[in-house]
Amino acid sequence: MNVLVVGKGGREHALVWKLAQSQRIDKLYAAPGNPGMTALAECVDIRVDTPVAEREKLVGEIERLVAFAHERQIELTVVGPDDALAGGIVDRFRASGLAIFGPTEAAARIESSKVFAKELMERVGVPTARHQSFTDSQAARAYIREQGAPIVVKASGLAAGKGAVICHRVDQALAAAHEMLDEGVLGGAGRQIVVEEYMAGEEASLFALCDGEHFITLTPAQDHKAIYADDQGPNTGGMGAYAPAPVMTPALVRDAEERVIRPVLAEMRRLGTPYQGVLYCGMMCTDAGVKVVEFNARLGDPECQILMPLLKTDLVDLLIAACNGRLDQVQVECAPGAAVCVVMASDGYPQGYEKGFEIRGLEAFADRDDLFVFHAGTAQRDGRFFTDGGRVLGVTATDADIQTAVAKAYSAVDQIAFANAYCRRDIAYRALGRA
Ligand code: AMP
Ligand code: GLY
Repeated sequence: MNVLVVGKGGREHALVWKLAQSQRIDKLYAAPGNPGMTALAECVDIRVDTPVAEREKLVGEIERLVAFAHERQIELTVVGPDDALAGGIVDRFRASGLAIFGPTEAAARIESSKVFAKELMERVGVPTARHQSFTDSQAARAYIREQGAPIVVKASGLAAGKGAVICHRVDQALAAAHEMLDEGVLGGAGRQIVVEEYMAGEEASLFALCDGEHFITLTPAQDHKAIYADDQGPNTGGMGAYAPAPVMTPALVRDAEERVIRPVLAEMRRLGTPYQGVLYCGMMCTDAGVKVVEFNARLGDPECQILMPLLKTDLVDLLIAACNGRLDQVQVECAPGAAVCVVMASDGYPQGYEKGFEIRGLEAFADRDDLFVFHAGTAQRDGRFFTDGGRVLGVTATDADIQTAVAKAYSAVDQIAFANAYCRRDIAYRALGRA
């Protein structure tokens, strides 16, 4: 069958890499894709990665992709990025008779509206931070003063990872609320905000493949959002990840399945917007069980770059079962070892950075089955690769345990060179600290 992957990052390269192993694939396409995928998939220049804030442009690109999918007889489409989901790509594909794996625009509100997600959790008693939502800044500021610090101020809408401000002092929280509500620094995304209790503890991410009714959870993972070692500095899209995350014990996974995922899926069905797609549960792991930090409506990046190498089951089989509401009839097999991904970025990211530098040393990893270099921000000219984004590459290693996988990933990182390269040197430190 012909399969299309939507997106252009390391997450989508990992999806293409995994799908390419399926016997059922005739041809793979990616829109817009990236240079790392070209050996496995045909990349099409349709920009469904356009931010949802530019809705008209995004919807136009989605229409182009629908036409393309008919023309190339695409039988299954998999969506990576949140903007395309919030822009209704799944609704448009389905309305046009095309099979697609991902939540509808209404279901994707679980990520694109934090107010929606919080209200849903409150209704069905999912454990999460105590909160209130506001559009009026005076009311928000009064609540912040009443609650005190530490406290978290969040834009309700999609804000490209910049929407949550962790405030250790009341004045920071007052300023964040003022900037979002009165000054509109995050545009429409910040017109409504959620102010919530700060939760202490260690986070992990649990990914559930959902078919509207049934679900299957993958190996629990942990990502590293902050730019600097020891989780210091501003948040990024993610500087590395590893799985399994020991903080999320089998008991906590069961707790998340029963007290979070199952009630959320039931409530989404009750609302008439059944959830089909990946439910990404950002969880705070506490002695009293898990608490939800956030939901996303998609796979994580870089988490996908570790989860795909750990997944033994044919991904096409899984996705088709999910599209047909039959996830209860499939078994998922995850490899027993560990996987670690180190993101190599352009120095300066997540703020400004230079790009256009040649990347050397990639050839050594082309044929390995325990080391993968997934591309994110790269460009290709005359058979050579150049840096073209903030997150440039994701270097993933698998091995029997985290320690060996970490060492292997960093030894690969040290063989890859480009000017202004930056990576964190402490990926998986929390797991290593437990060993
Ligand atoms: P979000 O935008 O909701 O994904 O939040 C981004 C990051 O901010 C999360 O991954 C957490 O590390 C942190 N965070 C968000 N909400 C809270 C909270 N209530 N307590 C502590 N940390 C939080
Ligand atoms: N790694 C965080 C995310 O994908 O949102």
